[in-house]
Amino acid sequence: MRTTVGIIGAGPAGLLLARLLHRAGIDSVVLESRDRSYVEQRQRAGILEQGTVDVLRAAGAGERMEREGLRHDGIELRYDRKRHRVDFPALTGGRSVMVYAQTEVCKDLIALQLKEGGPLLFEAEALAVEGADGDSPSIRFRHEGREDVLECAYVVGCDGFWGVSRKAIPEALTRVFERTYPFGWLGILADVPPSHDELVYARHDRGFALLSMRSPSVSRLYLQVPEGTDAQSWGDERIWDELERRFETDDDWRLQRGPITQKSVTPMRSYVHEPMRHGRLFLAGDAAHIVPPTGAKGLNLAVGDVVTFARALTHEKETGSTELLDTYSETCLARVWQAERFSYDMTTLLHRAPDATPFEDRLQVARLERIASSEAAETDLAEGYTGFPFA
Ligand code: APR
Ligand code: PHB
Repeated sequence: MRTTVGIIGAGPAGLLLARLLHRAGIDSVVLESRDRSYVEQRQRAGILEQGTVDVLRAAGAGERMEREGLRHDGIELRYDRKRHRVDFPALTGGRSVMVYAQTEVCKDLIALQLKEGGPLLFEAEALAVEGADGDSPSIRFRHEGREDVLECAYVVGCDGFWGVSRKAIPEALTRVFERTYPFGWLGILADVPPSHDELVYARHDRGFALLSMRSPSVSRLYLQVPEGTDAQSWGDERIWDELERRFETDDDWRLQRGPITQKSVTPMRSYVHEPMRHGRLFLAGDAAHIVPPTGAKGLNLAVGDVVTFARALTHEKETGSTELLDTYSETCLARVWQAERFSYDMTTLLHRAPDATPFEDRLQVARLERIASSEAAETDLAEGYTGFPFA
């Protein structure tokens, strides 16, 4: 088998890349190790930056998002029983975000790809990328019990943090920057209308809590829990009781409870792999970088990477110049590090480390008070949350 761009992984990065290349008249093949329903059910974040919304629209993949997505013009910060709303459009010259789950983005892109795009093979596991530093890289993969080779002009590794593509970059040329956090998020889905019409980020002495949503009738909520917590060890009542305490306010706001339909724990990590390119192999999305979920940046970073790659390859096709492909890694990393910084700041602003001192507790509250009282500090948060521009 032969193609121009071999794409490993059908998460948001791989699926959107295939779509963008198709629109640019460049052929590709996507190899995905899991089956379709697994990819379509996997629970992930659900905040799309303005730039991501614009890209999906321009790629002809925004139809259901327009109908079912919820435009959000702000978030609430909650601390010391107080509530502070951050108004995005007012602070950023009109920008906002969209609540539309990653599972839905993936479903929409898969349907489009199967209808009008190039091959998308499920249960096709990439085993290795070979010849990345030569003129004709290839992907060795297993599909329907047989090993096969996909010959490519370019390979893009969109295979997430646990994928194989990163391993094809020699260690001697690589630098990894990493931080793990001594806590995780216990996330639940519940069949109950969200108790607030915008997301609520709460800092509490008992730990962080987040109120989010999937639709007008489904809530998504998170609790900071110790690293390594087993989700099943938390009973439903205990989860609701703990959420209620961490969201407590002085006014008459109440948390609505409902049946919990799903529970899971997500670990928290910051990770950057440099460079993001080696010869004709390009890394995109979680394959190259991870952010803790507090800033909701994971999906949006993946979108920035594949937009940059699609633009660079289109430029090469139209002008013969490899200049944008050659600077792919630097271009992406500039934006990646801004998102790493923002996600780290949001995480350390709102979570309580197990060894936190009273001094650090006071500093967190002082940082929050600063955001609530200074337009400059609040604007910095609003700009970061609604997204750093694509290069
Ligand atoms: N061969 C083929 N596919 C693979 C392989 C492999 N060896 N290894 C992993 N994959 C697939 C995974 O099954 C998954 O479907 O690659 C895909 C990677 O998708 P994601 O993990 O979703 O990563 P990405 O597309 O970069 O999306 C960015 O946004 O919300 C964040 O972290 C969240 O996934 C999210 C990310
Ligand atoms: C989510 O809805 O899953 C979500 C929202 C905001 C975040 C993280 C996750 O910061």
